[in-house]
Amino acid sequence: MTTAIVGVGNIGRAVARHLVAGGESVVLAAKGESRAQALAEELGPLAQAASVEAAISGADAVVFAVWLDTMRELITADANLLAGKVVIDPSNPIGFDASGQMSRTLPEGESAGSVVAALLPAGAHYVKAFGTLGADALAASARRDPLAVLFYATDDETAERTAVRLIRAAGFEPWKAGGVAAAGRIEAPSGDLHQYGFNGEVVDLARARSATAGSGA
Ligand SMILES: NC(=O)c1ccc[n+]([C@@H]2O[C@H](COP(=O)([O-])OP(=O)(O)OC[C@H]3O[C@@H](n4cnc5c(N)ncnc54)[C@H](OP(=O)(O)O)[C@@H]3O)[C@@H](O)[C@H]2O)c1
Repeated sequence: MTTAIVGVGNIGRAVARHLVAGGESVVLAAKGESRAQALAEELGPLAQAASVEAAISGADAVVFAVWLDTMRELITADANLLAGKVVIDPSNPIGFDASGQMSRTLPEGESAGSVVAALLPAGAHYVKAFGTLGADALAASARRDPLAVLFYATDDETAERTAVRLIRAAGFEPWKAGGVAAAGRIEAPSGDLHQYGFNGEVVDLARARSATAGSGA
């Protein structure tokens, strides 16, 4: 099984590093190939670099570790490559103004997950995952004792199996927030199951269970 990671910024780098540490093969792609190439060399034989299209074509699952607007563009451009693939979306509907102030980029109540899922071609398997911690916490929290939870949201069994496997391989405990309708709960800036919703705390399974108890997750 090979996972393409498109985008090797804060999130893509951390996911790639954790997956390789867990024995997973990754193919890295970014806007320019040089950063992907440099990271692949640093991570060793389980990591390769490729163009976005080649990375998607050769992978079973694709983590789009890019900003939401970029993801919209890439999914539209590469829709023909995504049928049959598991598409993993860590995006948050946030942007930053010139002074660094964060704001929501979608109307209240509309999740990035619902936007991305609706763009995918038939036959793609969608899951929201790997975005519930800030990048620094994600980078620092793998393989803790007790394990840190990464929440995910999906309506698709194939996507769920893959997300659970990859979250475990990355050194975290997977915990389902619900279907795509629950994606907003695990997105910043206002999701109650995002790290921000726990006031910055990186939660373990006991805390995740109680936070989702009664919600049908
Ligand atoms: N940062 C966080 O704390 C955090 C936490 C949770 C979720 N997220 C979500 O994760 C996603 C990525 O965030 P980030 O902080 O990792 O962003 P980032 O550090 O800015 O990295 C973005 C990456 O996207 C790549 N990229 C841009 N345009 C592209 C294109 N057309 N084709 C292929 N790759 C392209 C860039 O390539 P180059 O390297 O070549 O420029 C870069 O590697 C966002 O949706 C964000 O909402 C972020």
